[in-house]
Amino acid sequence: MTRGRIVGTGSTTPMRVLTNKDLEKIVDTTDEWITRRTGIKERRISSDGQGENTSEMGTKASLKALDMSGISPEDLDMIVVGTVTPDCQFPSVACLVQKDLGAGKAVAFDVSAGCSGFLYALSVADNAIVTGSCRNALVVGAERLSAITNWDDRTTCVLLGDGSGAVVLTAGTEDDGILSTHLQSDGNFWNLLYTADATCKIPEILDTVEGKPFYLKMDGNRLFKKAVPCLANIAVSALEHHGLSRDDVKLMIPHQANIRIIQAVAERMLIPMDKVYTNLHKYGNTSSASIPIALDEAYREGLLEPGDYVLLVTFGAGLTWGASVVKWSI
Ligand code: UT7
Repeated sequence: MTRGRIVGTGSTTPMRVLTNKDLEKIVDTTDEWITRRTGIKERRISSDGQGENTSEMGTKASLKALDMSGISPEDLDMIVVGTVTPDCQFPSVACLVQKDLGAGKAVAFDVSAGCSGFLYALSVADNAIVTGSCRNALVVGAERLSAITNWDDRTTCVLLGDGSGAVVLTAGTEDDGILSTHLQSDGNFWNLLYTADATCKIPEILDTVEGKPFYLKMDGNRLFKKAVPCLANIAVSALEHHGLSRDDVKLMIPHQANIRIIQAVAERMLIPMDKVYTNLHKYGNTSSASIPIALDEAYREGLLEPGDYVLLVTFGAGLTWGASVVKWSI
């Protein structure tokens, strides 16, 4: 059977570090509150003119992943970018990355699935490989959430950060690679997390903003309560689909939204926290970028070896959520 195998990973984050102490000067918050309620200590914030736009970070992460893979941009058949913060509404970030890489043969497009964008993008690219329409694919998560952050809103601005991560997939017939990705959505809860620009036509949103420019809005508490069971249930189903148990998992890499969500999911799944990778203390919630950044860092830290089972699990606006079971290939 043909599978998509991960043969390269890469990531990048902006230079500028914004600490909790810095945020104490911007909004009515404390390092103690942010650390205790979220686990976040600092985040990276893009600066203009520094090559830190969403597409520019996407390209940087992609170059690192391509370098590791040994696959050249000209040999890519597909580029899929998960993002909710494109440089502009169109063209897609993927097309801008394609241009910057010189990946002339690749079909390129974005996937919008909230914080689950990377796993949705991974699933699309992997399915194209499995069905034979694509041999080499680049999958990217890239976000500049600071561009849609309301810096007057302490309930959200302390959570978010910028960055990008990427993986290169290639077709292989070995028994490793992406074993499957399981995705779910529930639009009934769209209003727990949203943003919109001047083109927004959702009446409920327009009623609340009174014509003012507005940013990401979140009902964090309700989202938290949805996130934990969604993440735990889909992660367990994904493992069971392959006859795997939690003991088979070498590393779980969850979306990095809140350490308390991650701990609650691990507790429900009876997975010890030393098998759960977290880096949200450094980057906060980078939406679609969080899993590929964490995956890249985990691999480069030597935590993954060929044959290891890695469980990627995500949750975000939409609502969307999902889990991928990967048998590590590099
Ligand atoms: O990535 C997509 C998925 N994202 C998520 O799943 C995020 C899910 N939600 C969360 O991570 C958490 O709900 C938050 C971190 C956003 C909030 O934590 P919480 O424990 O749910 O706090 P809360 O919203 O219930 O607020 C508790 C109190 C409130 O004050 P009162 O009403 O009790 O007086 C807030 O106003 O904490 C207050 N508060 C803050 N205080 C200091 C909220 N934000 C802050 C802040 N600093 N930054």
